Amino acid sequence: HEMTTLYEKIGGAEKVRQLVEAFYPKVQAHPLLKPLFPEQIRPVMEKQYMFLTQFLGGPPLYTEKYGHPMLRARHLPFPITPSRANAWLECMDQAMDEAGITGQEREEFFSRLVIAAHHMINQPEPAS
Ligand code: HEM
Repeated sequence: HEMTTLYEKIGGAEKVRQLVEAFYPKVQAHPLLKPLFPEQIRPVMEKQYMFLTQFLGGPPLYTEKYGHPMLRARHLPFPITPSRANAWLECMDQAMDEAGITGQEREEFFSRLVIAAHHMINQPEPAS
């Protein structure tokens, strides 16, 4: 039988593009996330577009260009605390609203991102 990927269910390349375009302005406006990202955000957006495409079961664009994602390792230079992971997920939740990603496929996609974001945490919360 035909396998339908999450990539196809959410609407393919066009939706992934819309999501990435909605997400990074929120990241750049977030006080906890802004300091980690370069001002020139386009190259980061492009990598995320390629990564999310394959993460959802679409063509392996990221791996073709950059090799194995090893995302936890690639994030080690950045101090990712539990609050920053939650902030990232909040921005993604809002970006999904904006891109009109809804229903069961959104729930499935978002829960996979929750797992990935928690996996990226590499620093405890700073003492306050
Ligand atoms: C790159 C932050 C979670 C996918 C980056 C960069 C930062 C960052 C600072 C580097 C930007 C640069 O190139 O200068 C965070 C934070 C997260 C998080 C604070 C909170 C948990 C995630 C998750 C995913 C992801 C959950 C995927 C589902 C990527 C990808 C790149 C990237 C694909 C590009 C890697 C490369 O250089 O090839 N992230 N990230 N990130 N992030 Fe995250």
